Amino acid sequence: MQAPDDMPPPLTLPPLPRDRFDLPPDLLWVMHCSEGPVPRASIEAGRRLLDLEAHPWDMDFGRDVLGLPDRVRTQAARLLGADAGDVSLTQSTSSGLAVIAHGFPFEPGDEILAPLGEFPANAWPWKALESRGVTFREVPLWDGHLAGPGAWDSTPPDGDCTPEQRIADAIGPRTRLLTVSWVRFQDGLRLHLPTLAAACAANDVVLVVDGIQGAGVFTPDLQGVAAFVTGGHKGLLGPAGQGFLWTRPELRSMLLPAGSWLSVADGAKWARPGTDLDRTWLPDGRRLEPGAYNLIGAAILGESLVFLNDAGPDRIAAHVHALQGRLLAGLRRGTTWPGEADRLEPLWATDRLGPFLSLHAGPQAAGVLFDRLRIGADRNIHASVRESYLRVALHGWHDQDDIDRLLEWLG
Ligand SMILES: Cc1ncc(COP(=O)(O)O)c(C=O)c1O
Repeated sequence: MQAPDDMPPPLTLPPLPRDRFDLPPDLLWVMHCSEGPVPRASIEAGRRLLDLEAHPWDMDFGRDVLGLPDRVRTQAARLLGADAGDVSLTQSTSSGLAVIAHGFPFEPGDEILAPLGEFPANAWPWKALESRGVTFREVPLWDGHLAGPGAWDSTPPDGDCTPEQRIADAIGPRTRLLTVSWVRFQDGLRLHLPTLAAACAANDVVLVVDGIQGAGVFTPDLQGVAAFVTGGHKGLLGPAGQGFLWTRPELRSMLLPAGSWLSVADGAKWARPGTDLDRTWLPDGRRLEPGAYNLIGAAILGESLVFLNDAGPDRIAAHVHALQGRLLAGLRRGTTWPGEADRLEPLWATDRLGPFLSLHAGPQAAGVLFDRLRIGADRNIHASVRESYLRVALHGWHDQDDIDRLLEWLG
């Protein structure tokens, strides 16, 4: 294992050219973990659609109304290395998770298991089932791991932690479904999905993944995963309000469809009376969709997905990994965060981090982190704080100059 101090990881040109975005030259945006910038071409695609909304006589049902959602399904599948027929459009991560939560044949007494401290989008769809007698149980992932009101006092994860094993050990006789964030929103840990999938398979448990914090930068291994859900507005560089859901056919066939007229055979074929209700549910991803599409969202996200796919998901992942290595090496040489660099480096070196480095400030340190954010904003460097972590998110357009600026600010 190569420590980032010894030799900085080699860096190639950014796979996503910065001039494809509307980023002012002196602005450093390291918070796509909150909101990703939408590329110019995607904004143009949205504008074209707005134009069509003003002139619906120029709209083509096949090309636009059906074609734009289809493009998202196809490009999302390309990004995931999956089949387009397994992709459904959703509004958000929450709504994708809710499709599963409300469609799954839970029985009273069933249990849903989740890591402690999930982003609430991956808690409330499941908590909503409590009135049906289904419980939601959270598992701490390492010693001293806290969430909720005590989140600020949590210890951070380190290279010795084994969160996947803790989760596997917590699976109980009533566990029907395990839901996890692939990349955790506060500490930035990226869970090893194949390990979780193996534990689920051994216990006949369905594995659902909230993938929003990794999608667009890393490619998930979906082997053994039943569903992968994401909003489009972070690493996928799309707009808020348009996401997608990938489901394995075996899970999809178990889910109660949401009940849209576009989820049934010939739904959009006007040669057949729409009032003819003698139809079957579509077997593919459209089965889980909610009705008339968010065409502006689909136009924008579709274009962003093409941008990411054409750049090459592997190149983006390698680039971000190299940038993170360089940032860690610099932090280790500085005076403020060397301990954090030492904590994060083994996680980085074993591919257990998502797109952002989460620098932990220790208990009661909210003031320190928010001061640091303010100093950054004064320098036009925009990062984010969640719970006791300062998050620095890197993507395919960042380069060495950005790392140098970050080190100057953080050091
Ligand atoms: C892990 C995680 N899941 C989900 C979301 C967002 O959920 P939604 O797309 O429903 O707004 C976020 C952040 O906003 C997140 O960090």
